[in-house]
Amino acid sequence: MQTCTIKTVPSKTFYIETFGCQMNAHDSEKVVGTLVAQGYSQVETVDAAGLVLYNTCSIRDKAEQKVFNRLQNFKREAGKGKIFGVLGCVAQQEGEKIFDRAPHVSLVAGSASYTRLGEMLVQLEAGNRRVTGLSLDTDQTFDTPFTRRDNPHRAYITIIEGCDKSCAYCVVPFTRGPERSRTSESVMAEAGQLGEQGYTDIQLLGQNVNSYRDPSAAGWDFATLLGRVAGIAGIRRVRYTTSHPRDFVKPIVDTMDANPVLCDHIHLPVQSGSTRVLGAMDRLYTRDDYMRRIDWIKNAKRRYSLTTDIIVGFPGETEEDFQQTLDLMDEVQYDSLFSFKYSPRPNTSASRMEDRVSEEEKQRRLVIVMERQRAIQIRRNAEMVGGIQEVMVEGRNHALGQWIGRTSCNRTLNFTHPDTNGNDLAGRYLSVRVTRSGPNSLVGESATVV
Ligand code: 5AD
Ligand code: SF4
Repeated sequence: MQTCTIKTVPSKTFYIETFGCQMNAHDSEKVVGTLVAQGYSQVETVDAAGLVLYNTCSIRDKAEQKVFNRLQNFKREAGKGKIFGVLGCVAQQEGEKIFDRAPHVSLVAGSASYTRLGEMLVQLEAGNRRVTGLSLDTDQTFDTPFTRRDNPHRAYITIIEGCDKSCAYCVVPFTRGPERSRTSESVMAEAGQLGEQGYTDIQLLGQNVNSYRDPSAAGWDFATLLGRVAGIAGIRRVRYTTSHPRDFVKPIVDTMDANPVLCDHIHLPVQSGSTRVLGAMDRLYTRDDYMRRIDWIKNAKRRYSLTTDIIVGFPGETEEDFQQTLDLMDEVQYDSLFSFKYSPRPNTSASRMEDRVSEEEKQRRLVIVMERQRAIQIRRNAEMVGGIQEVMVEGRNHALGQWIGRTSCNRTLNFTHPDTNGNDLAGRYLSVRVTRSGPNSLVGESATVV
């Protein structure tokens, strides 16, 4: 670590912008809590901040470019005494190279080092302008009592950090380090506290929650943890993300079936419908293995929404492989999906593969996936018209005079409500009759008296 002293933090104010996944969003809640506990206050603009933090994502090249654009835009601000920090996946991936590319940056720290965040802040306050936290050599998770949650009703809980898989396209094992599970005791204590504080909706987080393994003597697996969290007083909904089909075992579906608190939604990223491409991706399952899991879900007692992630244009993906992905989409009939053009990432084995699919072809395939899925969603959502759904109210769309709700099956359901007393319904659970549907959301009416 180099040291060169210039001005200290002008005021203990900070601004943070977060990119990427829910893990990152939740890391930011913990980072904010830690900063506040050290006497900092959060401000809403870069202008008002002494310390500017970017919690970054490097899953695709585009996400990575965003942070360098931001740093470029605010370069001149550093001269006015502002301190810049890069956190998260780009920080871990690029490391000290960030200081060369953006010399006005003073802090570079990956998520596996956040347990040292307090100490790193002290170094910054002491005037150190090259502070780093880049070690991946940890068996710790970032547990803090200071989490500043953004939402008063829904709360994230990390159950496992890092990833031990080595999917050929994926940068995560390099940016988030090896798998570390929290003890079931600490997860249950956090969930219990959240229930007492009035949170009703819990989302369990991890890069691969299915491979959760309690490090304490209790030795719970993921299905056991899921069932136990769902049993906590006050908790009405539990979701989890994200799953890996290889580790998605039947007891998970059985546990969900046995407990309606576990939401009617399963996100099971398939990536490709071609066994050959899945092999090249090192996904550790075949198309048939994947479809067996879909069968468990479709034969379950409840109807679950199914969503997935798809990558088009992986190196060597032929037209025939691509057709198999479309065919799988037709077979599964996903309720929603995220589709991505393959983007080569540093250090990954796929970045060294030949037989790249051209940008134009990737774009063509992406558009086909999106159009095919849009037609499926129009049909799936239309099937829900006339039915009753329970929603948790998330907010109000004043312009449309509607409330925004989320169903257990993870759909947005915008609805009207007869209440004219100006009650804030956010956080309430209401029954809503679905009256109309579109490709991405539902519309309905609630008659529930509040
Ligand atoms: N290129 C394109 N998409 C990717 N994803 C992960 N890595 C890449 C990459 N290099 C997608 C996968 C994953 C989702 C979070 O992002 O579909 O499930
Ligand atoms: Fe992005 Fe992956 Fe890091 Fe999440 S874990 S921020 S998706 S690179």
